Amino acid sequence: MKYDTVEEFRQKRDEAVNFIKDQTDFDPEYLVILGTGLGQLADEIEEEHAIPYDQIPHFPVSTVESHAGRLLFGTLGGKKVVAMQGRFHYYEGYTMQQIAFPVRVAKFIGAQTLVVSNACGGLNPNFRRGDIMLINDHINFLGDNPLIGPNDEELGPRFPDMSEPYTERLLELAENVALENSIKMHKGVYLAVSGPMLETKAEYRYMRQLGADVVGMSTVPEVISAVHMGMDVLGISVITDECFPDALEPVNIEDVLAGAAMAEPKMTQVIIRVLERL
Ligand code: HPA
Repeated sequence: MKYDTVEEFRQKRDEAVNFIKDQTDFDPEYLVILGTGLGQLADEIEEEHAIPYDQIPHFPVSTVESHAGRLLFGTLGGKKVVAMQGRFHYYEGYTMQQIAFPVRVAKFIGAQTLVVSNACGGLNPNFRRGDIMLINDHINFLGDNPLIGPNDEELGPRFPDMSEPYTERLLELAENVALENSIKMHKGVYLAVSGPMLETKAEYRYMRQLGADVVGMSTVPEVISAVHMGMDVLGISVITDECFPDALEPVNIEDVLAGAAMAEPKMTQVIIRVLERL
């Protein structure tokens, strides 16, 4: 799905938005995107309504086994949220516009803030598998982005500013929450690659030299599209493997999922406590 015109995008978006509004009058303030192996947060949501992706007009459908594929509406930390249980990755073959579509739809049903999580590899030698990191900036190495093509001025500007993609106020709040709850949490730069292969030693060395603390295959398209629409963003990464070029071990998806499980309770707690305080 690549839109030829703004009108085509608006029509598809309206069909999805209207379908959802016909199903539920729940009006979420927050969009929560759950990363690979990070489904526990969804269990904490007091569920009001759920819609499988494949029922929503023009919604992409998840292909990754570890992702469930539905929109969950409910309350988390006392706030009204819509959660994407399962997200879309560029390596699955979706276009950037498809990956951004749920974020754009969520904005039109009321979400003003994006809370996004992901599994990633740690490049910073101070990071360990099972740690969590607050994302305070990113590097887009996907070679594509969701804003290419006709710009809908109703969504946002042609040339959106990216001086503060991760909302400073939310970063401060999350740091305070982690401190108060004695949760060790790093802060750093997320670099996005397309995947699906993990990186070579030479690539990890290069990425670290570029200023990245972690590397992953998601998040940046959703964040770009949220920032374009003027949404606030909070991003948290869980480090599922250590990408140290001089001591690199082979990694498979089971290792990644096990690493995510180690970090998940910490991430879940930080997000719930942040929402409680907002
Ligand atoms: N590289 C890219 N993406 C990842 C990694 C990694 O090492 N670990 C988990 N997601």
